[in-house]
Amino acid sequence: MRQIVLRRLALAASLTALLALGTSAVAQFGKHSAEEKINVSSYPANIQSNYKVFANKCSECHGLASSLKQSRSPEGWTAEVRRMQAMASSHINDSEAGEILKFLAYDESHRKAASREAISANTGNAPEVAGRQMFESYGCSSCHSVAGVGNTSSALDGIGSKRTAEELKRLIVSPPSGSTMPPMSVPDKDLENLVAYLLTLKNR
Ligand code: HEC
Ligand code: HEC
Repeated sequence: MRQIVLRRLALAASLTALLALGTSAVAQFGKHSAEEKINVSSYPANIQSNYKVFANKCSECHGLASSLKQSRSPEGWTAEVRRMQAMASSHINDSEAGEILKFLAYDESHRKAASREAISANTGNAPEVAGRQMFESYGCSSCHSVAGVGNTSSALDGIGSKRTAEELKRLIVSPPSGSTMPPMSVPDKDLENLVAYLLTLKNR
């Protein structure tokens, strides 16, 4: 009887230790929530180790969510990572930057591509419905809001009354020079859906 109680106590103690370890591992990994991370266990070993560098270095100043959602061309990511390296107080050397870029490229062509495939493969989706899901999937809402949801510093409400389909396409994949909107990497069929959605955002 006594032994069982002791064992229970020992079990409780080791569980507490495990929990404490869990929290400190999270704390050390960055202050950001678990849902911002992704499961990379099916990625090749070298990409998994690139992911660790990314998750560690790119969470120093902000969460990982933007990079895990938004899409850039390879040149676009190279420019973005260089920009981050140049920021005062960033500690990312060129070899780490190279590893981060390998992870980002792999993740674009696998996880991100698959999630967008899944949206367009859902044939029940009308273009504007698929487009609304793509708006989320591409991380547009980290910089834009619609009906108060998302980043309200740049609201897109009413954009469908202001811009034509052609203008919208250009604004998304090749914003005018001097614009602070980064050129997003969006294949044509996804772009059609996104634009169909944006065109529904009329002034009321
Ligand atoms: C030294 C701090 C710092 C580090 C380290 C850092 N960033 Fe940033 N990042 C910022 C700041 C500040 C902004 C917002 C201002 C801007 O975009 O210029 C930003 C913006 C961004 C954006 C624009 C998207 C958005 O939603 O605003 C992306 C993408 C991004 N960072 C990716 C990365 C990646 C990838 C890494 C790792 C290579 C990284 N960051 C490391 C400071 C940092
Ligand atoms: C890193 C932040 C960021 C991301 C991500 C982003 N945008 Fe933008 N976008 C901006 C900013 C800032 C502007 C304002 C451009 C300027 O400087 O004039 C803008 C402008 C626009 C405009 C033109 C608005 C107008 O009034 O003419 C459209 C349309 C647009 N974005 C759509 C999108 C879509 C769709 C996505 C996702 C595929 C997206 N944006 C992702 C920052 C972003």
